Amino acid sequence: MRRLELSDGEIESIRSLITDVAAKHKSVESVEFLNNACLYAHELPRRVRSFLNEFRLKEPKSGFCIISGYPLDLSAVGVTPTHWKWREDAQNSLHVQIFLILNGILLGDLLGWATQQDGYLVHDVFPIKGNENEQLGTGSEQTLWWHTEDAFHPYCADYIGFFCLRNPDQVATTIGTVDVEKLDAAHVDTLFQPRFTIRPDESHQEKNESDLRKAQRPSQDQSSIKAAYEKIKMMNTNPEKVSVFFGSSAEPYLRLDPYFMDPLDDDPEAQQALNALIEHINANLTDLILQPGDSFFIDNYKAVHGRKQFRARYDGQDRWIKRISMTRDLRKSRPARASATARVIN
Ligand SMILES: [Fe+2]
Repeated sequence: MRRLELSDGEIESIRSLITDVAAKHKSVESVEFLNNACLYAHELPRRVRSFLNEFRLKEPKSGFCIISGYPLDLSAVGVTPTHWKWREDAQNSLHVQIFLILNGILLGDLLGWATQQDGYLVHDVFPIKGNENEQLGTGSEQTLWWHTEDAFHPYCADYIGFFCLRNPDQVATTIGTVDVEKLDAAHVDTLFQPRFTIRPDESHQEKNESDLRKAQRPSQDQSSIKAAYEKIKMMNTNPEKVSVFFGSSAEPYLRLDPYFMDPLDDDPEAQQALNALIEHINANLTDLILQPGDSFFIDNYKAVHGRKQFRARYDGQDRWIKRISMTRDLRKSRPARASATARVIN
């Protein structure tokens, strides 16, 4: 496993850097913070920068890495919220959010979605009442089927970053990778061909936009959000055929979300190849139990992730994770972003 344990000296240096940054910026969602975040990241301890740099460059087979030891003061952060829409912890968890972003930005530029969690860049993952049986990060009682993040979208992120604030019931995050040598060569060949469809997952559906965002949205933004949801609808009714594998045939990159992939009744060969891949990933799926203070980064091209089912507490102490997405090349999504520095895909 690739894990970096922060030393006392590194923790001290990180604490001082974050205090300094937090004095300048009241929100990680602000343009000023985002425009400067990569400069601040240069001031992280060299061992942290080297660890993430190596993860980015060498693309290890494990597909993930963890940075442990960040000193978390949960009494200052407060209880696990009941919904992400109020952003009620924005100030209390500011230091944690800054830490996550400074690490994440060493892997790539931050990326968000107009159609997901009201367009915020930092997402919350905790159980929400009423979502128990949904295929959402805010669900609980159903296994969250493993997937690559935002697999339905051509601009899906290269990396996902998580910061674990709470996990009292030791709920497992699942993670899986592919050993291409163990797959049938004909299946591999098929998986490299655009014969598969992936529909948008639940988190991008208009029904999951918050009532708060709807009520507070300035009228000039109405048409762009409407168009963004229209695009999601189009991708749902008329999904393009894509390949599941891309890149190198020796170490393929992945793009799949089986729960949202249609049965391939008219292409049994492709269905067989997909089934074989799903079976292979299922057989190698491992549980990872994030602990408070862990920063966890997944290479979204190399590994799938999911979550085991659990019983939510709804007592303010539930599992709580902050999540961000990073892209190596922000420019490729320029047609879908409002400006060169905008990070939100419409
Ligand atoms: Fe996910």
